[in-house]
Amino acid sequence: MISSDTANLKEKILEENKRVHALEDRLYLFRHPEQTNFFQTRILRNSLNKVCRGLGEGNVNILDLGCGTGYLLLKLLERGYRVTGVDLSDSMIRALDAQIPADHRERARLVVGEADEFADQSDERYDAILISALLHHLYDYETVVKKYCAKLNPGGMLLIFFEPLKQDVRSALRYALHRGIAALDQQIYSLAMKIRNIPVFEEEYELSDYQRRFGGIAPDRLTTTLTSAGMEILEVEKYCARRYGFFAFLTTCLLGTQNTFNLLAKRGAVSGKEY
Ligand SMILES: C[S@@+](CC[C@H](N)C(=O)[O-])C[C@H]1O[C@@H](n2cnc3c(N)ncnc32)[C@H](O)[C@@H]1O
Repeated sequence: MISSDTANLKEKILEENKRVHALEDRLYLFRHPEQTNFFQTRILRNSLNKVCRGLGEGNVNILDLGCGTGYLLLKLLERGYRVTGVDLSDSMIRALDAQIPADHRERARLVVGEADEFADQSDERYDAILISALLHHLYDYETVVKKYCAKLNPGGMLLIFFEPLKQDVRSALRYALHRGIAALDQQIYSLAMKIRNIPVFEEEYELSDYQRRFGGIAPDRLTTTLTSAGMEILEVEKYCARRYGFFAFLTTCLLGTQNTFNLLAKRGAVSGKEY
């Protein structure tokens, strides 16, 4: 039994997510160049390649949970897969729907739904589940992740992508430089959005980005959750995302600081036991 305070908080987080993502909708990726700059595009392509290499031939069934405006989903359709996209926000789903090319449409299924509830409502199994920039919006991401591990076919791939990393500050100097570059990146971004007349809603994300108040998501904790759910961890990739690729390259490759992670896992059998 959950307390009424917890239930109220969960409900508020969901309402806030609906509200802020209705503001974002079709301009989402314009407002988030950190997802489309050259540095992140390379990481995305490599991650998708790794997922696809782990998939069999034939009728592959993929879920993009918290699909938003289709950052991953559209690329999976281009690669010829059948994909279900689930998102809480009908505005984001509508923006995605408008972008699906006619010749890919019959392989795309879009659902307006809440991640935790959708897990309970559907019995469908998937060959891959992709979750990009969703977990930090959830009140209890571990429960949700566990439910979806159980929806993978044996050998199925799980990609958790582009989540804010709970940082481990090892060097005060490097961290100060990291913050300085972040401030510059942000100033250029604010100016670019102003010039392009694109409103940004950064002040609005306080509650909807719920896990950020705990400093982000710790991959170690996620790894433990996944392993206990029968997943084999294949890779955890940490790096520094920035609005602009040059700054992401500078901080990741030269400064060696990180603020984002991706995790690739595969559903297996542990000690002969099927999960
Ligand atoms: C930061 S956006 C990421 C969208 C997309 N995956 C991407 O990487 O561009 C987070 C998305 O998660 C959705 N979302 C937030 N909470 C959710 C929930 N509880 N269930 C399903 N979707 C949710 C939002 O509506 C939004 O579209």
